[in-house]
Amino acid sequence: MGTPRSEIVPVALEPKIQRMALAANPPTPVDAAEQRQLIEAIKAKLVERDAVLVVHYYVDELLQSLADQTGGRVSDSLDMAAFGQAHPARTLVVCGVRFMGETAKILSPEKTVIMPDLGAECSLDLSCPIEEFSAFCDEHPERTVVVYANTSAAVKARADWVVTSSNALEIVSHLKAQGEKILWGPDKHLGRYIQRKTGADMLLWQGSCVVHDEFSANKLAELKAQHPEAEVLVHPESPEAVVNMADVVGSTTQLIKAAAASEANTLIVATDRGIFHKMREAVPGKTLIEAPTGGRSVSCVACAHCPWMAMNGLTNLLAALEDPASHEVSVDPKIIPKAAQSIQRMLDFSRSRGIVGKPSG
Ligand code: 13P
Ligand code: SF4
Repeated sequence: MGTPRSEIVPVALEPKIQRMALAANPPTPVDAAEQRQLIEAIKAKLVERDAVLVVHYYVDELLQSLADQTGGRVSDSLDMAAFGQAHPARTLVVCGVRFMGETAKILSPEKTVIMPDLGAECSLDLSCPIEEFSAFCDEHPERTVVVYANTSAAVKARADWVVTSSNALEIVSHLKAQGEKILWGPDKHLGRYIQRKTGADMLLWQGSCVVHDEFSANKLAELKAQHPEAEVLVHPESPEAVVNMADVVGSTTQLIKAAAASEANTLIVATDRGIFHKMREAVPGKTLIEAPTGGRSVSCVACAHCPWMAMNGLTNLLAALEDPASHEVSVDPKIIPKAAQSIQRMLDFSRSRGIVGKPSG
């Protein structure tokens, strides 16, 4: 047999993904007076359109605060999906990246789902084109296909299960206990971490996150030497050597909870720096330090911020509410039922294990 698909496809895609990350344009910054005007206009439009904000932790803290003030949600990708599905609003305004908007639409096809910028990608999603991934699955028909939520609607429709970093350990352990072998995509780092923790038989697609891939184990070791008292919190999309240095590995919500539960007063955090807004609220007295990246990265120079999450701002949020038709997330109706099945399987499992709240009402 030649080189397995899993070793060639993402490598071939890398230059394209890097170009797209560099081309991601954040909205033009606005001054304080303009911010106030935009915030008031957005609040009025949310009421007028019967709309609710569903915001990821990595997005601009002004949008996170707006969600908090208007009855919306700031959360991780699993909880965003559950919240959007359960909320009665007619319009979901998803501030994050495209797979989050698509998941909301798949779970609630009857609702209007809009995003400030429909061009907000995710390198994991981009690294896993449906044609190549489907061929990879076809080569291994005996395996259960488990995909990360950071994928297109078509890839979710090809999968048996969708998972997020909040529930991947539990779901893969559950599948392993049933004797199932797994085909995993697209994040190689999260896949390897889950494989190591569960001992499951997993074939891994070779995608990665342009942000988390940049964390440097060598620089982290130097930083730890300067702060021997600090605990290290790491998102599992990070490279193995960084994960190996962690005191806690978890999803964004799990890292915020770990910060609150920790006895340490200094925390080094390896995930997108957008998380610091909510983490600071959770632990106002603690010192929070960003884990170091390797230097000049694809997304920016020595920083850890997703170029696509940064595309969400007040100006394009208001534009989306003023002209929903040109900001509306659409998913091929033919794909929706199958994609909904694998997402709903994840939500039902997560609710049964108390990993995510039960829907209200
Ligand atoms: P969470 O599900 O932990 O919020 O992660 C989503 C993500 O895109 C991390 O990069
Ligand atoms: Fe995707 Fe990484 Fe951005 Fe998360 S931080 S949305 S995994 S590119």
